[in-house]
Amino acid sequence: MKSMEKEVLFSKEIISKRVQELADEIARDYKGRELIVIGVLKGAFVFMADLIRFLQIPCLVDFTQLASYGSGSVSSGSIVIKKDISLPIEGRDVLIVEDIVDTGLTLSFLVRTLKERSPRSLKVCVFLDKKMRRQVPFTADYTGFVIDDGFVVGYGLDFSEQARSLPDVYIIKE
Ligand code: IMP
Ligand code: MG
Repeated sequence: MKSMEKEVLFSKEIISKRVQELADEIARDYKGRELIVIGVLKGAFVFMADLIRFLQIPCLVDFTQLASYGSGSVSSGSIVIKKDISLPIEGRDVLIVEDIVDTGLTLSFLVRTLKERSPRSLKVCVFLDKKMRRQVPFTADYTGFVIDDGFVVGYGLDFSEQARSLPDVYIIKE
């Protein structure tokens, strides 16, 4: 990890400002309601922790973890639930929180799966969006930053489980 060449893409100050803006937007949209916020493990845990603390509406939190069959950092088509949420979501306002949307396969699977449980509403908030890499159509309801192709780490995002704890977001240089 020490030898990995990388440069800061988003500083912790820029990130914090943007996360607060997202939280304000979400709180406006859900005014007077109670949200169930579902974080996608592991990558979303840092973003979610910041987001919910800026959120000026009541929320319950839950987590899910998905596994995709494929190698390395490339998602394949087949995704399974490795850890399910523990809260019932029928009739509830649900917000999925994810670190990054890339091909769109993971989130389109999760949205499809959770919709079957009849939530009152289901939206998605992503910290980062690699828009040009989509393999299936997917648009998040709330997006922190749109980024170009390239591998990013920090603020929960990992490279082979490393670098999640870095407070800034870095782009790996090849
Ligand atoms: P996809 O949208 O199904 O391709 O998958 C998105 C998932 O791939 C994310 O939840 C991340 O775990 C992982 N991922 C994609 N791009 C990156 C990156 O640049 N850094 C770290 N993880 C990434
Ligand atoms: Mg992830």
